[in-house]
Amino acid sequence: MHYMNEKLQANTGYRLAERKAIQYFASLYDQVMDKTYVTKLTEDIQIWKRNHIHHSSWLSFFSRGKRKPDSRDYYRYIQWLSYTGKLDDYLDRSVSYIYMRDLGKALDSADTQTRIQRVIADVKRYLLQSTSANRSDQPEFMNVAGVYRWSQKEGIEATVIWVINKLGSVSSHIPEGMDAEQAQRKLIKIIIGVILHVMEEMDDAVSPDERSRRLDEAIRLGYSYGLTYPFIDDLLDSRLLTVQEKEQYSHMIRTALLTGSVPELGDWTGNHMQLIQYIHSELSDAFEYIKDHQRPDTQQTFFEQSYVFFHSQDIDRVKDLTRANYTNEELYIPVILKSASSRLIARSVIGAPEDEGFEQRTFFYGIYNQLADDFADMVDDMREGAVTPYTYYLKYHLQRSDLINPFELYWGVISYLIHNVYNSDARAREVILDRAMNGLKRYKERVGVEKYDEMMGIFASGHPEFNRLIQKMVQKADDVDFFDKLLRDQMITHLKNDSKEKEDFFNTIKIVREQINHQLKITKPHGIPAMKEQLIDAANYSLEGNGKRIRPILTWVMGVNEYGLDASAIVPLLRSLEYMHTASLIFDDLPSQDNASTRRGRQTLHQVHNSATAELTGLYLIQKAIGEQSSLDQFNAETVLALIQYSAQKAEDMCMGQAMDLDSKGKALTLEQLNMVCFYKTGVAFEACLVMPAMLAQAKESEIAALKKFAYHMGIAFQVKDDLLDVEGDMLLLGKPVGQDFDNNNSNFVSILGHEGACKEMWEHYCLAMEALEQLPRNIAFLKHLMNYIVNRDR
Ligand code: IPE
Ligand code: IPE
Ligand code: MG
Ligand code: MG
Ligand code: MG
Repeated sequence: MHYMNEKLQANTGYRLAERKAIQYFASLYDQVMDKTYVTKLTEDIQIWKRNHIHHSSWLSFFSRGKRKPDSRDYYRYIQWLSYTGKLDDYLDRSVSYIYMRDLGKALDSADTQTRIQRVIADVKRYLLQSTSANRSDQPEFMNVAGVYRWSQKEGIEATVIWVINKLGSVSSHIPEGMDAEQAQRKLIKIIIGVILHVMEEMDDAVSPDERSRRLDEAIRLGYSYGLTYPFIDDLLDSRLLTVQEKEQYSHMIRTALLTGSVPELGDWTGNHMQLIQYIHSELSDAFEYIKDHQRPDTQQTFFEQSYVFFHSQDIDRVKDLTRANYTNEELYIPVILKSASSRLIARSVIGAPEDEGFEQRTFFYGIYNQLADDFADMVDDMREGAVTPYTYYLKYHLQRSDLINPFELYWGVISYLIHNVYNSDARAREVILDRAMNGLKRYKERVGVEKYDEMMGIFASGHPEFNRLIQKMVQKADDVDFFDKLLRDQMITHLKNDSKEKEDFFNTIKIVREQINHQLKITKPHGIPAMKEQLIDAANYSLEGNGKRIRPILTWVMGVNEYGLDASAIVPLLRSLEYMHTASLIFDDLPSQDNASTRRGRQTLHQVHNSATAELTGLYLIQKAIGEQSSLDQFNAETVLALIQYSAQKAEDMCMGQAMDLDSKGKALTLEQLNMVCFYKTGVAFEACLVMPAMLAQAKESEIAALKKFAYHMGIAFQVKDDLLDVEGDMLLLGKPVGQDFDNNNSNFVSILGHEGACKEMWEHYCLAMEALEQLPRNIAFLKHLMNYIVNRDR
């Protein structure tokens, strides 16, 4: 019964919105039919172009050094804007646009202007400062270390760790057939949007604690709301789910919106049970979070508008491009509704105060963006058979003279916004026309002149004179670029590169591990004494376990890929590293040390035999390692001697580290002591893996020093993760027992700092390691991804 009432109410809400949309569409339709928009916009553009058409003089020939850099080159582009004096206007139109689109503001209000100017000043200060400080080519907030550093300043480390993990989990759950980078980008964009909004609302009077609280809430809200993009819109748009699955899924979402609580998942008929389970659980949490963190008045808007949004999307989605008889209203009303409601939802999520006229403005604005986006996506939509005003017109304009031309309607909307919604305000005209011209310029650049002209031939032929004016602007107008577009491009490039590098990383690991696994086995020469044979078998038993081989893999990548060493020449080095490491594990597991029963997915050596055999096997492996090192005969003898000497020192250090570790049982070590123990017991081995190939390649001292610094932080991060896995890991994946540190009363990062403290410490060393990488004379993507792997691994 309750459900029925809700449903009735939601339907009433929808009808109300629909009526408004019908009226809006009718007035747009009239404008397009009687072409009043053409006269108005022609005048607007004549005024507008004064600031955008620059006649180039012969002088510009000589100033080629100051040519506009590629906008993909983030820092240089900003620098260029700054020294050509364009930065202020650039930020003005960019910030103003966001205030109109996302906050529903009118630019002619004094209060809004004060706010906009304040934001511009902040952004400018930030940009100029980071441009001079940064040497990488990408803004620091686009990498995890940069974001974590920011979270430390704001006192919200735990929240940022939470969201990093959430994002990681989302991207690993995006199924094939859906665009993972786009999904991530949208989600990140929403989160940043909410954060920026909350930041903008706070002034200096807000206490640091309150500031942290609000930022924490912003991040969680942003994530919760942002999830709906990949997991509702994109998922339903994709072809992943069957028709039946989609129906079942839609029904669930609808029920949640109508009743205000997410129904149980129940039985799922279809192949995507696991995916849906994950999504259901994430969306339920998100839904509850949004509900709990909204004021009652915005909550109603939220549910109402979400329903309008979902319902209009649904109507749109089932449209079929092969059906030739949709009316203009059928085509445009859902578009108006979904674009307007999505903005209204976003506003209700952030709970921003709504000023006079906000709702009207937002309602009218939506379709502008939607038409701009649909235009840009036309080719993709066409290929997928999706119905948008553009694809539909493209397909049927010759046979249906009644169909309204979406491109004309687009300009109609622009005119309507400038004159009817923003009362012919000069600033609004400026910003909206900037944006419109920018959209066409970008489109032309992306699809090429030929395709562009073909499209214009179809869409812009109705009014030749007006079209000539527009095309002239697209060709000649300048200073129409926007900061959010720059960020968007940066973000996409970054996410694409990142996922490509990540793929390379995992491929390399897989291939090299395979090779190494084949090279580890110790052979038994004929005629050796039986006792020695047993020892070799024991050593091979420990080596054959399912080890990750990170250490020799690291050495291989540095040696072969970075220093160009001969892969076969360094095989003895790779063996020696894994032999020493395996020996250290055999000792570490002994009853006299950690007393562990499983290692690398099999019984520990002393369990299979006895402690004496395990000890002797460990010693045997260490000697074997030295033997391998001394057979590095492709390298200069002096270098090899230096390497063996260095290796011996590191082995001493490790013994010391293990001794310190055992001595610390039950003691409350300081963080400094903890780091030291860890560096000796774990870090030095990683250091050796990086330094040894560098020594063989005669790398400079300064480079070796930078590698050591990186290894120090990497080693600690690795051990903190090991300590965390000892608490929350899965024994089957790890191949070794969990909870053994607790059972042994060992002092480790978790026992001393607690779970959250340990996580923070791990991320701190992650950042320090990433920062150390910047000091290296080469850009080693592998090491970056190794750090990501270390903090995210589950074994
Ligand atoms: C375990 O090292 C010992 C520590 C330093 C924590 P790994 O986690 O690299 O172990 P394997 O080689 O994969 O078994
Ligand atoms: C061991 O640290 C470090 C070594 C160098 C052997 P742990 O004792 O935490 O390693 P696991 O957890 O047993 O692999
Ligand atoms: Mg130990
Ligand atoms: Mg141990
Ligand atoms: Mg451990």
